[in-house]
Amino acid sequence: MKVVIAGGGIIGLTLAWRLSQQGVSVTVLEAATAGGEASWAGAGMLAPGGEIKCDNEWDRFTLASARLYRDFAAELNEESGVDPEWRLSGAVDLAASEAEWHVQCERAAKQSALGIDSEPLSPAALRDLIPQLGPGGWQARWYPADAIVNPRATVRALLAACRRRGVVVEENTRVLSVRDGLVSTPPRQYRADAVVLACGAWSSLIDAAVPLPPAVPVRGHLIGYQCAPGWLAPILRHQHTYLLQRDSGLLIAGASEEHAGFNRGINPAIGRDIADRAAHLLPALAGQKYETWIGFRPGSEAGHPLLGQAAPGLWLAYGHYRNGILLAPATAARLTRELLSARPDLRPSTSAA
Ligand code: GLY
Repeated sequence: MKVVIAGGGIIGLTLAWRLSQQGVSVTVLEAATAGGEASWAGAGMLAPGGEIKCDNEWDRFTLASARLYRDFAAELNEESGVDPEWRLSGAVDLAASEAEWHVQCERAAKQSALGIDSEPLSPAALRDLIPQLGPGGWQARWYPADAIVNPRATVRALLAACRRRGVVVEENTRVLSVRDGLVSTPPRQYRADAVVLACGAWSSLIDAAVPLPPAVPVRGHLIGYQCAPGWLAPILRHQHTYLLQRDSGLLIAGASEEHAGFNRGINPAIGRDIADRAAHLLPALAGQKYETWIGFRPGSEAGHPLLGQAAPGLWLAYGHYRNGILLAPATAARLTRELLSARPDLRPSTSAA
């Protein structure tokens, strides 16, 4: 009995790891390099405070995933020997005017009803947390539970953990179609008892026996500066700008949102705009060298993640949009539970019984 997962990003690999822990035989088919697309591009901001705006099923799911992260990262570190660099950084949300502050307070009240804590910061506390903050008459709010992970390290850890448990990861193997338990890629076909589509923005390009809910690529530019490690402790946010720093010192600023199909061209003007916004918040960044990269967020026309069984033997795990890194643990837990409850024979002990 075998599960084939199309897509070797953080969603597909986390699911592969969790299924393999249950004794399921898993093959991951990745079109290019495992974790080389949105999982490589993502900043790694695990920030319900920044991303959750109201109370719906998916916001609760997102929050639940954020709460799984500390243990997820620790277990992954232990199994793989690779540190995913999960850090409880907290986040500072800035408001530049009374109108922005009002909107922020209203959102915080809704978030608080969901269980996301935040509190206003005094000017002195703000200076203590971000002494390098530029002038701007800021008001600020502190989100103590927002955290950071390094998605590239997480993918390295997942690959190591998966391989230790016997998961087969085939790179440069693009899935073209899935029909009658047969997964077709240009070089060969794979037989599967269950197939999961986890190809992010590319998922609905696969030919399947049922129409697939459309995935939508939402391109984002990010920029990165090399700074002294530990220079920026918390996540810093203002409107559509966010900054965070990884353990290595890489300080990431984001982001843009563009509907540009799968165009991989980097637009230097968008990079400059992010750099200007970053330097407005942290003037020490003005004139500093930065690198620019893009990624394709896996949006969905439905406006929420597409998770669960779409047809007998065919499962969906895509459409995570801005929160793919954050949603990986909860997505894998849910799909593992649902797959094994629909197909208990996927577990070797059950099929032997
Ligand atoms: N989660 C942040 C972004 O998608 O830009």
